[in-house]
Amino acid sequence: MKIRTHISVSLDGYITTPEGLPTILTAPDFESGISHGAPEFIATCGAVLMGRSTFLPAVGSSHWPWPNLKVFVLTSQPLPEGTPDHVVSSGDPAALLELMRNADFEGDVHLVGGQQTIQAFRELGAVDEFGLVVMPVLLGDGLRLTPEKSAAKPLQLISTRTFPDGSVEHTYTP
Ligand SMILES: NC(=O)c1ccc[n+]([C@@H]2O[C@H](COP(=O)([O-])OP(=O)(O)OC[C@H]3O[C@@H](n4cnc5c(N)ncnc54)[C@H](OP(=O)(O)O)[C@@H]3O)[C@@H](O)[C@H]2O)c1
Repeated sequence: MKIRTHISVSLDGYITTPEGLPTILTAPDFESGISHGAPEFIATCGAVLMGRSTFLPAVGSSHWPWPNLKVFVLTSQPLPEGTPDHVVSSGDPAALLELMRNADFEGDVHLVGGQQTIQAFRELGAVDEFGLVVMPVLLGDGLRLTPEKSAAKPLQLISTRTFPDGSVEHTYTP
């Protein structure tokens, strides 16, 4: 089981617009689960992992974004009403990692985000692959991929490919 991101980021390093929307939504041809390499990536995953802020918009929405995938949420709070029973949560990143390791699924874990949750799993040394979809846009402001003053980390490029709208997927290992 590998823990892997596939997160959209602007050319100037933001994972959200100044209004807090995921950067992928700046792509005019974005289709959830269909465009920007999502099907190939998700086909290798059996679970998704995210923080409470990233998870909340899915609860009660008409479209459940992670059908057929185990869902793990990093939060110290009870999950909101309307959360499907199979969603697992913990406020302790190490405990959540252990729950994922012992869970019944095959394949990798898609570390969806956001910034805080990626940072929490980086600090555990548990992020095996950093996949980024770099969008052809300068946002100027928003939420950065990494918090300010987080530790420097050299990465090794293992693959890259481009999409028709000029976005580029890069995959790195630590
Ligand atoms: N570009 C993309 O593809 C993409 C992907 C995902 C998300 N996003 C964006 O990212 C934003 C959310 O990112 P975010 O960093 O603000 O939030 P987040 O990581 O999604 O969730 C933050 C929450 O996770 C829990 N958490 C985080 N670190 C923790 C730790 N070390 N220990 C215990 N709990 C911890 C806390 O929940 P409690 O407060 O409940 O304890 C915290 O409030 C959203 O605007 C979303 O749209 C973008």
